[in-house]
Amino acid sequence: MKSAILAQLNEPLRIIESPKPELSLGQVLVAIKAAALNHRDVFIQKGLYAGIKIPIILGSDGSGIITEVAHDLDSNLLNKEVIMNPSLNWGDDKKHQAKDYIIMGTPTNGTFAEYVSIAAELIHPKPSHLDWEQAAALPLAGLTAYRALMVQGNLQATDKVLITGIGGGVAQMALQFAIANGNEVWVTTSNTDKLQKAIQMGARGGVDYKKERWNKDLIQQSGEFDLIIESACGDGFGFVIDCCMPGGKIVIFGGTAGNIENIIPAKIFWRQISIIGSTMGSNEDFSQMLSFVNKHKITPNVSTIFPLEHAQNALDLLDSGNQFGKVVLKVS
Ligand SMILES: NC(=O)c1ccc[n+]([C@@H]2O[C@H](COP(=O)([O-])OP(=O)(O)OC[C@H]3O[C@@H](n4cnc5c(N)ncnc54)[C@H](OP(=O)(O)O)[C@@H]3O)[C@@H](O)[C@H]2O)c1
Repeated sequence: MKSAILAQLNEPLRIIESPKPELSLGQVLVAIKAAALNHRDVFIQKGLYAGIKIPIILGSDGSGIITEVAHDLDSNLLNKEVIMNPSLNWGDDKKHQAKDYIIMGTPTNGTFAEYVSIAAELIHPKPSHLDWEQAAALPLAGLTAYRALMVQGNLQATDKVLITGIGGGVAQMALQFAIANGNEVWVTTSNTDKLQKAIQMGARGGVDYKKERWNKDLIQQSGEFDLIIESACGDGFGFVIDCCMPGGKIVIFGGTAGNIENIIPAKIFWRQISIIGSTMGSNEDFSQMLSFVNKHKITPNVSTIFPLEHAQNALDLLDSGNQFGKVVLKVS
């Protein structure tokens, strides 16, 4: 099969012929139609990720058709149109993943290939209102956004929500989910065009996080927030705390801008703020996310589609931050 492989860190992906994955018990083989990129693919290529194993076929997101099933499984699964939950080995505890938890696409081979093997229990029906590329854009970003917002954030109908870095794939899914839920949502971004696009998607407004004291400007327009969905952290995190209402919540699912330093503890404890971590989600979170997407007919925002052969160009675009929405590979 054709695949885009990371043979060495800090080297471009190579398009090579590799053997089709072999099936273990309980697994299905999916012929990939489309695969989507996530920032973790960029981090892995640069060696900035835990548990890297090379050579590896990257990619945590995909849509496709089941073409083979392990001999212990029902052959009725054949020819089903599916998407895959990339959360492998979540375990039994809803509160957190198990110690042997991993994400498809490192350390196991992923979806930047014509075929991938995965446990049948992680297969879910492709939403019928989505095309192959839109469906591929959903799993990792949709799952992360859903758990951050609905499970860890426990979003309430009256909550006013701030989502930081709205150019991001997960951030945009969170925006779509919160808008579909009827919440008032504000955003931060580095780019005026992205702010306008977010407003077209239903955001009430937002500010440029690169401007000095953006927090003051935002609070003047919107007031403080009940729930903040944050993925940047770094030096700007103090401003994010300032935007949170007393008794409010900040859910962190990423650290794109680096470590958090120089935080004034009193701003958190005196104002009774909860800071909560969130990572990916369980298979139950995935099913609930999918029901929500089907109920509200949510369509992931696809920024750019590249053929599999141009997977490196797709990674470069994501690394540049110039996309708005998901970057997707058309595989077959
Ligand atoms: N815990 C998990 O389960 C999980 C899952 C997925 C992703 N993540 C992490 O979450 C982060 C986002 O992932 P993604 O795939 O959505 O990335 P992405 O699509 O590449 O988006 C990254 C976005 O971060 C924003 N950003 C960069 N610097 C910022 C800053 N100083 N302040 C505010 N926003 C800033 C930018 O928004 P603008 O374009 O609007 O400026 C950029 O578009 C990454 O760190 C990733 O590793 C974690």
